[in-house]
Amino acid sequence: MSEEIETDVLVIGAGGAGLRAAIAAAEAGCRVAVACKSLLGKAHTVMAEGGIAAALANVDAEDSWEIHFGDTMRGGAMINDWRMVELFSHEVIDRVVELEQWGGVFSRTAHGLISQRAFGAHSWRRLAHIGDRTGLELIRTCQDRLVHTDGVTVHMETTLTRLLEDRGRVAGACGYRRDSGELVLIRARSVVLATGGWGRMYRITSNSWEGTGDGAAMAYQLGAELKDMEFVQFHPTGMIWPPGARGILVTEAVRGEGGLLRNREGERFMERYDHIKKELSSRDVVARSIFKEVQAGRGSPHGGAFLDITHRGPQAIRRALPSMVDQFASLAGVDITKEPMEVAPTIHYTMGGVTVEAATGQTTVPGLFAAGEVAAGLHGANRLGGNSLGDILVFGRRAGEAAAAAARELARTPAPHRLQAEAEWRLLREPLERAHGENPFALHRELQEAMQSGAAIARTESSLRETLARVLELTERAQRMAVPGAPAYNPGLSTARDLRFMLTISEAIVRSGLERRESRGSQWRLDFPERDPELGRVNFAAHLAAGGEMGVRPVPIPPMPDDLALLTAGETRVAATDLADAADARQRVGRTGAGWGGR
Ligand code: FUM
Repeated sequence: MSEEIETDVLVIGAGGAGLRAAIAAAEAGCRVAVACKSLLGKAHTVMAEGGIAAALANVDAEDSWEIHFGDTMRGGAMINDWRMVELFSHEVIDRVVELEQWGGVFSRTAHGLISQRAFGAHSWRRLAHIGDRTGLELIRTCQDRLVHTDGVTVHMETTLTRLLEDRGRVAGACGYRRDSGELVLIRARSVVLATGGWGRMYRITSNSWEGTGDGAAMAYQLGAELKDMEFVQFHPTGMIWPPGARGILVTEAVRGEGGLLRNREGERFMERYDHIKKELSSRDVVARSIFKEVQAGRGSPHGGAFLDITHRGPQAIRRALPSMVDQFASLAGVDITKEPMEVAPTIHYTMGGVTVEAATGQTTVPGLFAAGEVAAGLHGANRLGGNSLGDILVFGRRAGEAAAAAARELARTPAPHRLQAEAEWRLLREPLERAHGENPFALHRELQEAMQSGAAIARTESSLRETLARVLELTERAQRMAVPGAPAYNPGLSTARDLRFMLTISEAIVRSGLERRESRGSQWRLDFPERDPELGRVNFAAHLAAGGEMGVRPVPIPPMPDDLALLTAGETRVAATDLADAADARQRVGRTGAGWGGR
């Protein structure tokens, strides 16, 4: 039995990017179908807790979009898509105001403006926030807007596993309903991928079970390119103890509110690694510093560092970081107003993804758009905290509008040949028909071990080659998976399909990591510890080559116009972490907003 649905725009994923894209496409007059693996409102977006970076200049009047542009480019080690960064740093200001108008309940300054806090490698206090629950409030607000917008149908617990095509153009997608096991085919005039990133092929991650890279892998299979796949972000602070809590995010807002990192000797070690920005250095630098402290034998008891905010006092901590207070009290029995937290890096975000056109999110496949974490370009080699929530609002909206325009251009909904869906459904059901075979959960664990040990925070040619061999071996064994039971709510069956996506994505991460023979952003090659200026002129892109092999090629980065290049000169300054040290921070380093020129 299979079900067939027809729509104008299909949005796959219902995190912030998917919701924003769906709202835009529906407001443009299209019929929109939104499909999500989980329930509406559950998405990795909620793990961006600390805020939305936008140069509103509510707290630091010197801030401007130009400075946000420079910070983002430097943070991304200069291989970002500069046009995306330009659009983003302008438009994110309007998107935050829009979110407020839609009912987003922001934390406030004493003057009633949206409050903004410091975050790593942002020159000014820039993160518009809702306590430490910003992603959750963004989802809640957009969800509310979506359900009050005409023309939208939401398909929850619906996992789409293959994009369909008709004469070289995307024509919809097919997959299954998790709750019934029923097979489903959605025909569409255009498709927006908003499936987020992929942390689940690593053992230690802040990602939920959904972060398996489905969207990027599906786009790759249809011929789209995957860019910057070597760049996987370790958020410096995840929980480390007890074991069941390992990897859960400890928001950067703790450091933004003045939290200090110390090693087991009580030393504030960030002074050694970045004596200017210290705890507010970029995520790649802070994560590596914690790793180095542990390697040097100065780690905390469970192999991380101590993060201490107690000096801010219980009242300020409870006001600014209510979720962290609850999280540590309930999961670790730690009162963060009185004792330090123990933290270690956790895989949080993936900078790479589907190559898109900056203004529209158009991929290289006609009719296929991508927005948010699944798309590459905005963040380059390392994302600044707070830039993801802005990304999903700015580019979710743009992709939704562009997908609506593309849908309107077609006289009729394409009719993909049913053979494509039937082949996918056979693949989905195949493990149920085998009495004996490989266990998908066991293969998943092996993949996590391989990626965590060979393609994580520190890499070498030999660790990457070894990991590639493991990934290819697992890919071969995955042809013979067996799963007992029936199709409805069968986690083994879902894992079997998700695993294939994770294997494709893992191969792209490792192959791209091998090609980039340098250290840049989140890619730390112990055998090539410096940046190579030549490699600063290219992105690497993985593609499905003739014969079904994965190829990786360098793609030259177009030269940046002079007026934008000027904005990237100089250093990122240090944002004050509270009003008291604002005056002092202004004096410390770098250029102020006044010196950056207007545009
Ligand atoms: O630490 C955090 O609150 C995460 C924010 C982000 O990833 O943007």
